Amino acid sequence: MARVGDRKTIRTYGRRKGHRLSARKQRLVDETLPPLRLAMHVSAPAPLTGLFCVPASQVWLEIGFGAGEHLAWQAEANPGVGIIGCEPYLNGVAALLASIEERALENIRIWDGDAREVLDWLPDTSISRIFVLHPDPWPKARHHKRRLVSPETLEVFARVMVAGAELRVATDIGDYARSSLEAVQASGSFVWTAECARDWRAPLPDWPPTRYERKAKQQGRAPIYLRFLRV
Ligand SMILES: C[S@@+](CC[C@H](N)C(=O)[O-])C[C@H]1O[C@@H](n2cnc3c(N)ncnc32)[C@H](O)[C@@H]1O
Repeated sequence: MARVGDRKTIRTYGRRKGHRLSARKQRLVDETLPPLRLAMHVSAPAPLTGLFCVPASQVWLEIGFGAGEHLAWQAEANPGVGIIGCEPYLNGVAALLASIEERALENIRIWDGDAREVLDWLPDTSISRIFVLHPDPWPKARHHKRRLVSPETLEVFARVMVAGAELRVATDIGDYARSSLEAVQASGSFVWTAECARDWRAPLPDWPPTRYERKAKQQGRAPIYLRFLRV
């Protein structure tokens, strides 16, 4: 069975903690996070939709949600879908918890750690959509092995995704888009949906911008939006 396994020793993220949390965010981390955190010491429920207290027809996964604005938007726009968000950066997790509280979102579960642990825990064919939006770019060649979108991760994505499931990847780093496309092509488990340049130059209406994406645009870097389907 495809697992990320030993590659987890190669760190794909930067810092886990930023500035000191406000009293409100610390309360959210102490009180709201524990019941939302995935219980990974036990097996995943079958079906996986059982993770959510509200009825869910499918389960989506966002890896590296940052401050969680995209995840909260998707959860609000798709109340019949359960979404798992993974993010090791505590301040980002606290920001998502604040959105969950403000918007009374009930269809989100969180893993405040490495998404690859969740990927290894997930049952086969249990996920209908995966978002990897602006993964850490790791621009230096000697750091490329830290890039999240890799042949090994794609193999595990293929294991956990249902046929026809969608994988969305965004990056403003041309070389990252290129290596992702090469890895996807080599995997043979996905097809790239783009038919013309517009398809990767502009996001779909249900693809709201993330914080990182706004910064990239302000700095003159154009995001690339990639959509793949699990065959
Ligand atoms: C450049 S930031 C982008 C954040 C957000 N997606 C956005 O677009 O604003 C990349 C994020 O991915 C997270 N990340 C990197 N490796 C990860 C992993 N293995 N599991 C979960 N999150 C990860 C980092 O902590 C970081 O917050």
